[in-house]
Amino acid sequence: MLRDGGLVAFPTETVYGLGADATNDRAVAAIFVAKERPRFNPLIMHIAEARDAEALARFDARARRMARAFWPGALTLVLPRAPDCTVSLLASAGLGTLALRMPAHDLARDLIRRVGRPLAAPSANRSGRVSPTTAAHVAAELDGRIAAIIDGGTCRIGIESTIIDLGGERPTLLRPGGVAREAIEAVLGPIADAAPDGSVRAPGMLASHYAPELPLRLEARTVRTDEALLAFGPALPSGAAETLSLSESGDLVEAAANLFAALRALDRPQFAGIAVMPIPDHGLGLAINDRLRRAAAPR
Ligand code: TXA
Ligand code: MG
Repeated sequence: MLRDGGLVAFPTETVYGLGADATNDRAVAAIFVAKERPRFNPLIMHIAEARDAEALARFDARARRMARAFWPGALTLVLPRAPDCTVSLLASAGLGTLALRMPAHDLARDLIRRVGRPLAAPSANRSGRVSPTTAAHVAAELDGRIAAIIDGGTCRIGIESTIIDLGGERPTLLRPGGVAREAIEAVLGPIADAAPDGSVRAPGMLASHYAPELPLRLEARTVRTDEALLAFGPALPSGAAETLSLSESGDLVEAAANLFAALRALDRPQFAGIAVMPIPDHGLGLAINDRLRRAAAPR
């Protein structure tokens, strides 16, 4: 089911995850539909072996030390994406970094091994609810929306993983969780706390959203000849320097799957800006518009 792009909830030692093939944009988009997430938060990629991690992200000596000390376990590392990383840009919300974790759960690791791909997996609850720690919790929230639930009993730890950002100069605690801060500081030395809104990692660096270099013009119904057009739906204004469509048929799930890759593809200095056609504000359109508004905000 996972190889075919389906969603499968699976147990980990922290909480149940809602898994999708992390290399499949459509499967990742389906996670946001099932969870009714109004935003494209970056997700955690789950791997079975430490050696799988190095193909996805760049490990320095610090990251290797952390992986050796805490994997498998309730620690998520945020690291720079590897140049040939196969993970969907939607899964990491367009960021240049990737969150990685090797769960300490035999069933979870066996599943990932058999699928043969990293699994993107947020907690398997609807948006705004608490994380599930039994298969029954998952069923109560997501039954009818996902392909299957693997029942592994109650999660041993019951709270989410600790997230440490190693993408910048100073290690930063992004989320406290299953591995204690003291245990991490015993390996890394003192770590910094994220800003209260979780947004800024270091001066001048926006960690939490991807934004293109070019200005974005939203709700565009016409396009200038020096603009690139990010289109949606069958009826296009003419005259753009270049056009990429999020979905010619007006399918919001397809549009979400294409969003970050399309923005990156159009973000080239030969254009004066990117004109974005109106996207309907329902279903995944809410999350698409949330991201577009942030990307269009003055910087
Ligand atoms: O224990 C856990 O971590 C569970 C199980 C299923 O593994 N997963 C989980 O995933 O809690 P989720 O999606 O609910 O939380 C992921 C967190 C989000 O707060 C997100 O902002 C952060 O990880 N995150 C993911 N990628 C990131 C990145 N590249 N940079 C900064 N934060 C990132
Ligand atoms: Mg969650």
